[in-house]
Amino acid sequence: NNPPWPAYRGYHEYSFAHATMGHRLPTILGKAIDDAVTTLNTLSDEGEILDLADCIERMGELMVDLSENHKLRPIIDDGEGDVALWNKEIAKYFQGKDFMNAPWLFAEAYKYRRLHECFSVSKHWRMYDVFARQKCDTFSRSQDAVFELSMRFAEPFKHSSNITQEERLEREKFMFLELTQVCLWGNSTDLSLLINMTEEQLKSLQSTGGEHLAATEKNILGNHMENLWETAKDIRGGRIDFVLDNAGFELYCDCVYADYLIQSGLASQIRFHGKRIPWFVSDVTKRDWEWLLNIMVYGQLFPTASEAELESLRRLGQRWKQYEKEGKWIYEQHPFWCTGYTFWDLHSEAPDLFLHLSKSDLVIFKGDLNHRKLTYDCAAPPNTAFDEAIGPMASAPGAPIVCSLRTIKSDVVVGLPNRAIADKLDEAEPGWKISGKYAVVLLSEGRPG
Ligand code: F6P
Ligand code: MG
Repeated sequence: NNPPWPAYRGYHEYSFAHATMGHRLPTILGKAIDDAVTTLNTLSDEGEILDLADCIERMGELMVDLSENHKLRPIIDDGEGDVALWNKEIAKYFQGKDFMNAPWLFAEAYKYRRLHECFSVSKHWRMYDVFARQKCDTFSRSQDAVFELSMRFAEPFKHSSNITQEERLEREKFMFLELTQVCLWGNSTDLSLLINMTEEQLKSLQSTGGEHLAATEKNILGNHMENLWETAKDIRGGRIDFVLDNAGFELYCDCVYADYLIQSGLASQIRFHGKRIPWFVSDVTKRDWEWLLNIMVYGQLFPTASEAELESLRRLGQRWKQYEKEGKWIYEQHPFWCTGYTFWDLHSEAPDLFLHLSKSDLVIFKGDLNHRKLTYDCAAPPNTAFDEAIGPMASAPGAPIVCSLRTIKSDVVVGLPNRAIADKLDEAEPGWKISGKYAVVLLSEGRPG
């Protein structure tokens, strides 16, 4: 049940795994410790202070394990629903492995679970999110792109009555493709990579204008957008699932897209899948989901915005909250999403989730990490067919139609029409696999149950 190619590991010096395990993860953990210390310094209750100081001490121990490359130990039974899944995987495959020689994908996920454990065994801080400050902050610094979208999309879509059916479909397709790209490129703002980004850098990443989108389509190296549109038309009125990636601006873009899918009638229900615990710095938790919708309606994040801009954001937020009330939008958080398993194991390790997804008409996986999990994060040739690269998620009976919307931020690249594209970029732009400048939109037709 494994692909024939080797999975990336931290000791592979040629891969981004090496820099991530050796430098990026300790830096991220250091910032997380700073965040907990900032909180500690605001406290007055002695019980809470001592309890948080213990959490900080445990984070220090994790830092030693990580930077000295210790062996991976089992997760402490902190009463969470995922402990058995974690420890089964460690016992079965990773006994005696350390952070550098375990598969990168597993070791990186394990680090975030260990970070959660620093808090989950405490009394007062079980739900503490060391990344919450950063997540909120980046959204508040995304003002230009946030209002560009809200000013355009707050007003509900109107279908002109005096056009032919064909024209109507043509317009619908145009909007669908444009918003697919908005949703896709929303993924390039990722906090785990873009620590200390300036406002200008953010702006250029988040530019959503029409011209910009036409120019960026050539950066979609494996591009199944036409097939995606055909699928969307076929499933009209069905259920679409989003396996979410990052909070803040990316989630906002996902919601703009999902809003269009509902208004156009392409979908009648959208299910959003988020994370149960703080994950890979910027991933969406329930709290981030609620924060976004409420801050849009009630927040005061943008003091320099005009009344019209603020009103557009409020209207969007109110509409989205209404979708939730009506059951058109549903937020879910299955524990499997925060394990170290790849999605090659989804049908066997989380059969309930697989069954649930198999009832969906289209499952959209957002972002780089989900793409790594779909593809087993292994060194597959870049022209490997997407279906082949995702194994059981395409071939197991009941596999749903799967689409990956991903800006490329790590080594694994599949679904390109030929190898030459990757070879040329390797030559001309050595950092192309981690810059987020390039993307893939890949579709698998699934397999009826
Ligand atoms: O640390 C590397 C990584 O896991 C890569 O997958 C990617 O660079 C980033 O973290 C997460 O990106 P995304 O938020 O798009 O999944
Ligand atoms: Mg992420």
